[in-house]
Amino acid sequence: MTKPDTHPAARIASLVALTKKHLLYPNNPIVNSATTEPVIWVDGRDHLLFCSNNLLGLSNHPDVKEAAIKALDRYGLGSGGSRQMAANIDVHRALEQRIAEYVGQEDAICFATGYMANVGTVPALMKVDFLEAIAKAHLGGKQPTREEMAGFDGWEIFSEELNHASLVDGVRLAKARVSRFGHKDTDQLSKLLEASGARSKFIISDGVFSMDGDIAPIPQLADLAEKNGALLMIDDAHGVGMLGPNGRGSLDHHGVSTSRVDLQMGTFTKAFGGIGGYVSGDRDLIDFLRITARSYIFSAPLPPAIAAGVAEAIDIADRESWRREKSLENAHYFRREVQALGYDTVGSEAHIVPTLIGNELAAGEVTKLLRHRGIIAPHARYPAVPLGRARIRFVMTCQHERQQIDYLLSCLAEVKKLLKF
Ligand SMILES: Cc1ncc(COP(=O)(O)O)c(C=O)c1O
Repeated sequence: MTKPDTHPAARIASLVALTKKHLLYPNNPIVNSATTEPVIWVDGRDHLLFCSNNLLGLSNHPDVKEAAIKALDRYGLGSGGSRQMAANIDVHRALEQRIAEYVGQEDAICFATGYMANVGTVPALMKVDFLEAIAKAHLGGKQPTREEMAGFDGWEIFSEELNHASLVDGVRLAKARVSRFGHKDTDQLSKLLEASGARSKFIISDGVFSMDGDIAPIPQLADLAEKNGALLMIDDAHGVGMLGPNGRGSLDHHGVSTSRVDLQMGTFTKAFGGIGGYVSGDRDLIDFLRITARSYIFSAPLPPAIAAGVAEAIDIADRESWRREKSLENAHYFRREVQALGYDTVGSEAHIVPTLIGNELAAGEVTKLLRHRGIIAPHARYPAVPLGRARIRFVMTCQHERQQIDYLLSCLAEVKKLLKF
């Protein structure tokens, strides 16, 4: 039966058709090979890939695969439940200890993805008021008041405007008062913190911004957190394994001691070539997350084979610094040359190099023209970036060779002429 135009399903169908008509639908190709390699097989031919997060080339590393295969043999495919039930497996704990040691924190808690780490962690911390009320009630033998149970009221979250969507969603779930501060605007943050009457303050920022490729002012954020008695959480999904003299991430890049950041979050999807997320920090904070983070309690953990493979990948990343050095060198070269062609690379400083196109439709056109030239490079557009700030987001890995980057540059020069921007 045809639905009337006003039916929600009919309205949805008409919006999908509109998106497709204007090339705004993410028409990602089906790939028939590992999407972690710089050359992939699509539509019966090779294409160059410039958007994989397999930054250090570890996803297909023989030692990583061997570790994963051994664990697959021993533990099977899945985990069989949540960590709170049967699936508290030795490989999970070993991975938590390894990543905590790697980033220089006391302990870590792993989640199935980085997204789940963020949506679980931010609201979980706010349960401290609620649990304090319950504890008081137990000890005092009386029912907590409605106000005591409400919890979130005493909290204010200070969230960077370009934070990743998973942090934004975590903040939404927290239901606390939220103040957004401008991109890297620590003056504004300082004023907001001073004006706040909240009992508990919580500052949250990406370490490396995923759509701009620039790095957060972590020393100033840590100063402000200390001055205002606030918790500080840094999402270092793009920094860990990549930045700093020892590859420990954006704190290492700035020379900031890990003791100045309460929670360092990261993912295994990027530098470590696998999947999964973690949050690291002091043992008490991590133990608190184990009893409050809903995406940890009510969801299954990483498959054991992945946990074992990722632990191996961390060891290789630690030993082989040439991998991050080459990725950053590639990014440096590409950024310099693409700027010389007249492209704006926003504030990029690391391995993520966006080229700003602006208009959403034009960005779709650039992706299409690059695809015709055998290059896969999707565009990022609203709501991933502000409206009118669409861009092609290139990611340079240690597996890209100079002649592949030069080919990309020649195509970008041609596309610029063709589209006259
Ligand atoms: C800054 C940032 N945080 C968190 C995530 C989520 O990580 P995952 O892909 O492991 O879910 C991403 C993913 O791209 C990210 O860029």
